[in-house]
Amino acid sequence: MQKLFNDLWKDYASITPDALEIHDLFSNLSNKPIVNDHIALRTFNDGLISLKHIGNYLETQGYVASGEYHFEKKKLYAKHFSNKTDPKAPKIFVSELLLEEFSAELQMFCRGLIAQANWKISKEGLELPNRHWGKISRSAYERLLEESEYAAWLAAFGLRANHFTVSINDLESLDSIETVNQFVKSKGFELNTIGSEIKGSEAVGLKQSSTMANLVDWEFEDGTYPIRTCFYEFAERFPLDNGETYQGFVAASADKIFESTNAAA
Ligand code: NI
Repeated sequence: MQKLFNDLWKDYASITPDALEIHDLFSNLSNKPIVNDHIALRTFNDGLISLKHIGNYLETQGYVASGEYHFEKKKLYAKHFSNKTDPKAPKIFVSELLLEEFSAELQMFCRGLIAQANWKISKEGLELPNRHWGKISRSAYERLLEESEYAAWLAAFGLRANHFTVSINDLESLDSIETVNQFVKSKGFELNTIGSEIKGSEAVGLKQSSTMANLVDWEFEDGTYPIRTCFYEFAERFPLDNGETYQGFVAASADKIFESTNAAA
C-alpha cells in the first residue's frame, strides 16, 4: 500500500507544484513527517473503473468501506475507505460520476473512454495512478465542462489523486486550520473561498480548507493548453459527543471542496 501512496504522490506532485511547495514549507517547520488525512480519486460509475471495482481492489489492499455520500447536484456518489489495521493510515475517498443522469452526448463520449479502460484493465489489471485512455481533444474537454466540471477533469486526467490532504491534528507547529490557512496565504497561495474559506465546523467533527487547483499546461490531442490540475487540502478533526475523533466526511463541505478544480474559479 505504501508503494501505491508513493506512486500517487509522485504523480500528483508532478502536476500540483503548489502542493509540493506547501508540503516542503510545513516540513521545514518541524522534524515530524507530514501525515495525510486522506486522498481522493474520481471515476465513472461504469466498467472496470467503477467505484465498485476500485473498492474491491482497495479491499485486497487492506482497506474497508466506511461511509457513503450523495452529491445530488453534482450527480456523484462516493464512499470512503479506511485501513483495517492502521487507523493512522490515510483514508481514501472515491467518488463516481452518475453517467445516466447526463446527456446522451456526454454519456456516449465517456463510455468510449471507459471502453478503452476496460480493454486495458482486462489485459493489465487495474493500475493507479493511470489514465486508461488516450488524450482527449480540447473541444471535447470544453463540451464536457459545459455539463460537468468533474467529467471534464476526469476525462483529461484519469484515475490519479485529485488531492492529498494534510492532517492538521498531526502537524507539530501549526495547531489549527486557522493558523494553517494564515500561514499558507502568507506564503502567497490562493485558498478556495467558495462557500467559505473553512468548510465544516467543530460541531460536525471536521473542518477543511484547500488551495485552488494549479493551472498547468496539459497535452490534448490537438495541442497544449493550461487547465486546472489538482489542489492541496487541509483537514482538522474534532471529537464528537462520544469522545471519539470523527473519522468520516461531511457531504456539504466536500461539495464545495470539489469546486477547487473549477476552471472559471
Ligand atoms: Ni478531501
